[in-house]
Order: sequence, then C-alpha cells, then structure tokens
Amino acid sequence: MRTMRLALIGFGNVGQGFAQILVERSAELAARFEVQFQIVAVSDLLKGSLYDPAGLDPVALLDAVRASGSLKDLPAPYRDLDALRTIHETNAEAIVEISYTDLKTGEPAITHVRAALESGKHVVTTNKGPVALCYPELSALARARGLQIGVEGTVMSGTPVLRMGTELLAAAGIRRIQGIVNGTTNYILTQMEAGSPYPEALAEAQARGYAEADPTGDVEGHDAAGKVVILANLLMGASLTLRQVDCTGITALTSQDIAAARAAGERWKLIAAVQKDGDQVTASVKPTRLPISHPLASVSGATNAITFTTDLLGDVTVVGPGAGRLATGYALLGDLLAILR
Ligand code: HSE
Repeated sequence: MRTMRLALIGFGNVGQGFAQILVERSAELAARFEVQFQIVAVSDLLKGSLYDPAGLDPVALLDAVRASGSLKDLPAPYRDLDALRTIHETNAEAIVEISYTDLKTGEPAITHVRAALESGKHVVTTNKGPVALCYPELSALARARGLQIGVEGTVMSGTPVLRMGTELLAAAGIRRIQGIVNGTTNYILTQMEAGSPYPEALAEAQARGYAEADPTGDVEGHDAAGKVVILANLLMGASLTLRQVDCTGITALTSQDIAAARAAGERWKLIAAVQKDGDQVTASVKPTRLPISHPLASVSGATNAITFTTDLLGDVTVVGPGAGRLATGYALLGDLLAILR
C-alpha cells in the first residue's frame, strides 16, 4: 500500500469536500488503487493551521469546522504554521492549493504553487489564478524539477474536460470551444427563469458552495473569462491574457429580459467561447439568447457543458457538474491519482 502525504493550503468548501471524499472513499481507494491519502497539514487563514507528521484525522477536521468554523480547538503537535511554512517545513509530498482565487494578481496562490515546486513537492489545485495568469512558467518549473502540477478542477470542477482536451482530443484539431463554464450564473439564470428574484438566487448559489468567496467575479463573468483563458492556452496553444477576453456578465439582465426570451421560446445563458482561425485565437464571455432547442439551452442549475468543435470528430460535448464541494474535491483526487500513475 502506498501512502501519499498531503498538505492542504485552504480549508473552505473545496478542502472540506476533498476531505469528505477521502473519508468516504478510503476503503475503495485502498482496494482499487492501493493508496492511502493522508492529510498531514491544513493551513487556513481564518480557520487556523495544524500539522501532524503522522497524519491528522480528517473526520475530526470536518467535525471541528462544522461545529465551530475553526480548527483552533483540535490537538496537533504543531500549529499556527502559515501557508509557506506548511509548504516548506512539513513532510507532505504533495500540496493541495485551494486558497481563495484572485484573478487579478493570482496571489497568494501563485506564490504557494511556486514554493511547493521549489521545495520538491507536487501540486494539485482548483485555483484558477495561477493557471489563468502564469501556467507556462509554473508548468516549466514543474517539468524542470520532475514534478507534476494538476489543474483539472480549474474548469468544470471534477468533470474531466481539461484532460479530455489536452490528452484525448489533442490530435483531433480543436477549432472552437463553446460552453457554460460558470455554475453560479447558470444556477442564478435557471432560478430567475423559475421566478426567483436575483438576490435570492445569488444567496442560494452562495449557500450551496458554488460561488467564489467574492461572487462579483462570478456574476461579472470574470470567473468564466479565467476559464476561457485556461481553455485557450492549455488546449489551443494560445497565450491569451484575461484582458483579451471580451467579457460581459449577467448583472444587467433583468427579470423582464428573462421573461421576454421565454416568451420567444428562448433562454439566456452565459456563453463562453474560444475560436481558432489560423494562428489567431479569440475569446469571449457573453449572455446569449439561445433557442430552447439548442443543446446548451437545456443545461440547467450549476451544471456546466462544453462543446469542442474538432476537425476529425466534429462536435464533442461534455456535460457535468461545474461547481460544488464534492464535484470540485473530486478533481483533486483525480489529479492525485494521475500523479501516482
Ligand atoms: N464559482 C465557480 C462557479 C466555481 O460558479 O462555477 C467553480 O469554478
């Protein structure tokens, strides 16, 4: 049996979802993959930091956060290590970087990922900042050190579109990518169409763990723009920056707009698109009215979908969860298993 020691940088929704998966699936992971994932450290700005070289009890971590929102009352041989000390000084073999996403600077996540690779540790992350802003540098650093960086959860959470695009469709000639890549806005649009006012729908998306810590990035389209940059750069060899994405969110859409579309047999969706023409790659995020018969029009709630238009296969569509604690936690597990393979 192989044990893989992990340090979690951040213990919000995604970290808790990941810990829950490890608790619920440990027997299956052991039986099927002969691996035991052991959380040795957790460092969270608000909840506190714990380190036990022999492993922390994930059930106790989850119970503590559920009961008090804090890890401060749990016993551990070492505590209060900040993120960088946790990365450098613990015996973790892989760092799970799940601190909050900042798409303007990418920090502090970029520093965490760099530090992990520099100290010889693999990284898995669902954090869009480092991947949308400086993936070429980070993946080159990983390669140079013989390490891996797993980023599957940055787009469509645990639904494996990045692996599909970078590995399985790599030779098919991806010309266009079009889809719904933000769960929060799709959930809000679905709820508004069912009659909920915008603030209620947003609050519900937050309560369900879909929204970013600051949901402005979701509703203004920046989260989707970050994902579009990741898709363009990882799957189409582009070097787009966020500023090059023509981006409009859903905040200007009113209940009247939604009712008008409905009366016309259409539905508003926040559509993200990347198009390759020769060497030119262009990207956009825009609310778009789709006929009800359009395949993306029936994708509802926090579900996401991406259609790859390829030279050799035509259209390939993947539909699946795009947000949520377990769905995003699953991406981390998939990346860790890929590292072990
Ligand atoms: N806030 C994001 C969403 C989470 O709503 O899709 C997943 O990246």
